[in-house]
Amino acid sequence: MKNRRSFLKEVCPTVAFAFFGLSFLEACSSGDDDAAIANPNNGGGTGNTDSGYTVNGNTYTIDLTHSNFSQLANTGGWMNGKNIGIPALFLRISSTEIQAYTNVCPHQGYTEWSYNNNLFKCANSGPTHGREFSDNCNSDLTCYNPNLNGDTLTLTIS
Ligand code: FES
Repeated sequence: MKNRRSFLKEVCPTVAFAFFGLSFLEACSSGDDDAAIANPNNGGGTGNTDSGYTVNGNTYTIDLTHSNFSQLANTGGWMNGKNIGIPALFLRISSTEIQAYTNVCPHQGYTEWSYNNNLFKCANSGPTHGREFSDNCNSDLTCYNPNLNGDTLTLTIS
């Protein structure tokens, strides 16, 4: 019995496209790219720690000793995971706690933020924007419950 890839090699692209359409044609790309497809957020593969974290489904396992997370070393430090592919804001609450929040603004989905005086402020500068959300998990900014164990933070985004 033929496996999926050898089948695709034989029929791609003309026949497959005619029968199954564009999504099937996309599956005809060459190379061993299955890991990248499974893990689009970290550049491929659950074992990729170049950015200081791995991802498995919606769960991020973060190595806080990596320089990407140095802003979280001290209480009050915060960061937006957007630029390294994590859709979350992080705030160091205490030596034993890091809180995490969605980085998608509840208003219209903007993902750039600033943080001051216990408030996350949306960086969208339009006339109806710039809204602020408390860091106390009672605002419209969704809170997650990451688990901190030593230097490892585990975050599941729901
Ligand atoms: S998108 Fe954030 S306040 Fe409008």
